[in-house]
Amino acid sequence: MRPDSYSTPAFSAIKAAPARVYDFYLGGKDNFAADREAGKKVIDAFPAAPRLARANRGFSLRAVRDCVEAGVEQIIDLGTGIPTSPNVAEIACAANPHVRVIGVDNDPVVLSHQRAAVSRGGYTIIEGDIRRPWSILADPGFNDVIDLSQPVLVLCTAVLHFITEAEEPQRIITAFTDAIAAGSFLALSAVTSSDTDPTLIAQIRDAYKDATAPVIFRTAEHITSWFAGLELLQPGVASVTQWPGRIGLPTTLRILGGIARKPPLRRP
Ligand SMILES: C[S@@+](CC[C@H](N)C(=O)[O-])C[C@H]1O[C@@H](n2cnc3c(N)ncnc32)[C@H](O)[C@@H]1O
Repeated sequence: MRPDSYSTPAFSAIKAAPARVYDFYLGGKDNFAADREAGKKVIDAFPAAPRLARANRGFSLRAVRDCVEAGVEQIIDLGTGIPTSPNVAEIACAANPHVRVIGVDNDPVVLSHQRAAVSRGGYTIIEGDIRRPWSILADPGFNDVIDLSQPVLVLCTAVLHFITEAEEPQRIITAFTDAIAAGSFLALSAVTSSDTDPTLIAQIRDAYKDATAPVIFRTAEHITSWFAGLELLQPGVASVTQWPGRIGLPTTLRILGGIARKPPLRRP
């Protein structure tokens, strides 16, 4: 598929949308019957799904705090989601009020809610589809906020499992990691097929089968390969329940997360 042929999903209340199903798991109100139906199917199969969603948020916010404390003052939040609290901008600005955050999403409900929440200092939202990374990197709104000559955190949590292999997740990651300065960070998380019962995988795939994007399960090795060329921080690619502190959740379904640093260029 040519990268310029990816189409952004139009608003539909009758098709479940990943952002709104996630809002349902998190106890939000910005979801419709189709989203709740898909979410309930997942919860029937894996009752800890809402706690796993919160653990994923915990990982995301931990990555933000650690990278800001390491000196990063710019965050690119790919697949930013419907506003929640605490959120990326709140945690980042609490650690350093000079931090700038750009949220990117392709979901019309996310965009309208994030635009309505403009009062949050340091946060800007732009419409963008991560399957077209170069359009995001060339967007004037993006370049008003982000200076790619300085270190950034590229945050891409619970998004890449909505990107199929045909849509080339590695191409997306590489476009961003090539563009960012040495000393920048990449933090991502994605649901894994490793040590996951195939029946549970089938039930979750089925819950999202009529959604605007399918759920793609990948092995731990595959998710780890996305960090090639970067320096993974401890504990490497691990269950998001390990950040911050250990959260006791059933391990029958896991989201794996990792945080990595882009090393300086080595001269021959
Ligand atoms: C499960 S939510 C995760 C939200 C947040 N990143 C987090 O970890 O809490 C996935 C988000 O990714 C967005 N998303 C999915 N596919 C996308 C794409 N191709 N381009 C941009 N955003 C996308 C969805 O609209 C949704 O807001």
